[in-house]
Amino acid sequence: MSVTIRTLQKRKQDGEKFSVLTAYDACFSKLISEAGIDAILVGDSLGNVIQGQSSTVPVTLEQMAYHTECVARGNSGSLIIADVPFMGAATVERALESSTALMQAGANMVKLEGSAWLAESIELLNRNGIPVCAHMGLTPQAVNALGGYRVQGKDDDSATEMLEAARILEQAGAAMLLLECVPRELSTRITQAVNIPVIGIGAAPECDGQVLVMHDMLGISPGKPARFVKNFMTDASDIPSAFKAYHEAVLNVSFPAEEHCF
Ligand code: KIV
Ligand code: NA
Repeated sequence: MSVTIRTLQKRKQDGEKFSVLTAYDACFSKLISEAGIDAILVGDSLGNVIQGQSSTVPVTLEQMAYHTECVARGNSGSLIIADVPFMGAATVERALESSTALMQAGANMVKLEGSAWLAESIELLNRNGIPVCAHMGLTPQAVNALGGYRVQGKDDDSATEMLEAARILEQAGAAMLLLECVPRELSTRITQAVNIPVIGIGAAPECDGQVLVMHDMLGISPGKPARFVKNFMTDASDIPSAFKAYHEAVLNVSFPAEEHCF
């Protein structure tokens, strides 16, 4: 049976977790979905892990649509979320155009990076049958404005602002939220404050779901891994087993542990 947005909403209501991994091609999409991972994110992190870029800024809508098509062909039953790339939601019109292309490429949901200002786009997308995940906290497309990949929402003012933004986006019709590099306590407060599922990465085990970049959790990304990454290949005999171990660890809340949080 295919995972839908309703499946994930029900998980939240029932206090059960769900797993998400990134994929960019058909082979891994097939393995990930067959391992029981609930949702696949076609992340613009493909700029880093596929293209060798130093940020996600150069990734284009055409590239996102191409990889979404590849993932959709390999998928067997996971929910497909596709990233709207850099500048793809700069105006409401652009958000509609970008999201249309990704949905027609095979996505079931789009993810937009931003904050409360996304409300108008989310409302319009929602009205047109496109569910939206709003990505808050560390938004890598804004790395140049943020001055690096840093934890967000650390002081009282920015924490209050993020919590308020979460409520505004839920009100606007966001189907899901994603928190990246947000302190555990704030991530927990946001997850409890909204009725929509919240996915965490560098956030909290209290979030409703967890996501990792596939290359990171397989230990094949170059360089020093981020604090929130766990290599699931270390104890696995093959790649499908690593995916299954990650799924289990998310569902039984053994991942993320305290050492993966901020
Ligand atoms: O592009 C991506 O892989 C992401 C996740 C890190 C959340 O946005
Ligand atoms: Na992304």
